[in-house]
Amino acid sequence: MIGVQTLDEFIIRRQTDFPYATGELSRLLRNIALAAKIVNREVNKAGLVDVLGSTGYRNVQGEEVKKLDLLANKTFIASLELGGHCCGVASEENEEFIAFEGSASLEGKYIVAIDPLDGSSNIDVNVSVGTIFSIYRRVSPLGHPCTSDDFLQKGSEQAGAGYVIYGSSTMMVYTTGHGVNGFTLDPSIGEFCLSHQDMSIPKDGKTYSVNTGNFYNFPEGVQDYIHYCKSFGKDTGSPYSARYIGSMVADIHRNLITGGIYIYPSLEGYPAGKLRLVYECNPMAFIVEQAGGTATDGHIRILDIKPNELHQRTPIFVGSSEMVSKAQEFLKDGKK
Ligand code: AHG
Ligand code: MN
Ligand code: MN
Repeated sequence: MIGVQTLDEFIIRRQTDFPYATGELSRLLRNIALAAKIVNREVNKAGLVDVLGSTGYRNVQGEEVKKLDLLANKTFIASLELGGHCCGVASEENEEFIAFEGSASLEGKYIVAIDPLDGSSNIDVNVSVGTIFSIYRRVSPLGHPCTSDDFLQKGSEQAGAGYVIYGSSTMMVYTTGHGVNGFTLDPSIGEFCLSHQDMSIPKDGKTYSVNTGNFYNFPEGVQDYIHYCKSFGKDTGSPYSARYIGSMVADIHRNLITGGIYIYPSLEGYPAGKLRLVYECNPMAFIVEQAGGTATDGHIRILDIKPNELHQRTPIFVGSSEMVSKAQEFLKDGKK
């Protein structure tokens, strides 16, 4: 291929569009992309070297921690700390946020919240996994360690967000609030190259992504919406398609390109569902909104929820705006 635009080049060009930008956010994004390449290398070798399987530990949410979860976690945190543009990180794999103490980091303007490896249950079976990240400007004073207030900002305050999908090819998709762009890793030159410029999600779609194994634990309104998807077009031969990979990144990435809805609703006994607001739902919501779609908890915009704690969960309905608003109609009349 001749005339590629690398992620680094793209980030630098974008930065010059903003005369007051200091370049720190650009450098932070490049630190994340570097860590993603390292994780990609390890994910690609899974099966050949001893990185598959469980560590034997459980994380703060009681979930099994896989070896690659830990490796990805360490890689992203190390890259962010070494980069020196970020004063702290919160991760799915750490109970508390980590405040970097180095002199450069204390002056860092940003914090990052991260799900280092999303879709862990897919690691051992060679199915797509991902990384999700969210970037905020700190609200605590420069020169001091970051505080929990930095991490508990509403999603609407995000300065940037993105995901990496380690799939049939590896891609990084990100936004800084000016549209969404996607970059595919060319392994022969080791660079993410612009492949999906100004991504926009179709207003409507025919794909619904939800774990129907939990069907009888779903709220009545969600069950009704699934019935609607199954029966729609029954007589014309054009029903909706169900597609559920079990990696939120991969499911949302597909829907972003082809149109669709991804749902992880509340469950009987688990009113907030499973997915975490700060490092899973907020970044994906920001990206989908920037691409022209919608993300809600079934009633209110995900980005307007004020987190009370780092590992807080929320139900999520995200994707093509017409599909999300249709799903929400079924949740009205007190049907949660
Ligand atoms: P993680 O691997 O980071 O814990 O996230 C897994 C998430 C998400 O990626 C996926 O869509 C969902 O959990 C799958 O959950 P179910 O197995 O309950 O459907
Ligand atoms: Mn996840
Ligand atoms: Mn994870």
